[in-house]
Amino acid sequence: MIVIDYSECNLIMENNNPYIFYRGVKVEGIDAIIPRVGASGTFYGTSVIRQFETMGVYSLTGSKALVSSRSKLESLQLLTQSGILMPKTILPSPHFSMHRVEETVGLPCVIKLLSGTHGIGVILVNDRITAESILESYIKMRQRFIVQEFISEASGSDIRALVVGGEVVAAMRRTAQQGEFRSNLHRGGSSVPIELSEDEKNTALTAVKTLGLEVAGVDMLQSKRGPLLLEVNASPGLEGIETTTKIDVAGKMIEVIERNKK
Ligand SMILES: Nc1ncnc2c1ncn2[C@@H]1O[C@H](COP(=O)(O)OP(=O)(O)O)[C@@H](O)[C@H]1O
Ligand SMILES: [Mg+2]
Repeated sequence: MIVIDYSECNLIMENNNPYIFYRGVKVEGIDAIIPRVGASGTFYGTSVIRQFETMGVYSLTGSKALVSSRSKLESLQLLTQSGILMPKTILPSPHFSMHRVEETVGLPCVIKLLSGTHGIGVILVNDRITAESILESYIKMRQRFIVQEFISEASGSDIRALVVGGEVVAAMRRTAQQGEFRSNLHRGGSSVPIELSEDEKNTALTAVKTLGLEVAGVDMLQSKRGPLLLEVNASPGLEGIETTTKIDVAGKMIEVIERNKK
């Protein structure tokens, strides 16, 4: 196994001969790749994955699936027809009326920057005036966002399920620190291993299958109406889930490659 930095890959397109030049060397003899692409590297990262795909190299995460799941908006749109539940969400028009937003998602509401990760850009807003000012500022700053119904009964906890090769291989409940509603470990949340209910398993598996991913971290909220899908992470961190559950998730990823790669 070798690690290559996608930001140093030159991608060459010519008839019948796509290839990659990496640090002065042509990349050859690769059986499969395991993409690890951070939110800020989506363009280069997915371009490099696509190049490997055109070269006939198996990718554990497909470039198309990675692009769709990268946007909280696009993935929720794709999942609306899959039968799984999600918090009611609106992408307000640039000429939005606060009345429409409030009527759709209610108050308090959660405003999310589409480009945010690790809980950054996720804001809980209690009143209409503040919500309206934030939305107006974002539009002025040309930032894209969605507004979501706040699921208060989740009480600062969410579920992270690691799906690998069509199975939930590990799951944990994350709980936000005192005074915070975002349960991300990066925001100081704590975590414990859990066993998922059938509903939760189905939600996670359906989401991942709909988006066409082999590996994903699925975030869900437990609500009165059942598990609600928050987001699907196509390049999930392994350290937190492996430390919490003591399960070798990376090993499961290798097994999927061995199964899929003839
Ligand atoms: N609609 C919501 N209702 C209640 N809590 C939420 C809601 N949306 C997000 N959260 C909390 O905020 C955290 C971060 O939100 P998320 O959409 O997963 O963004 P990020 O990509 O930054 O992790 C979630 O893990 C959850 O704890
Ligand atoms: Mg999240």
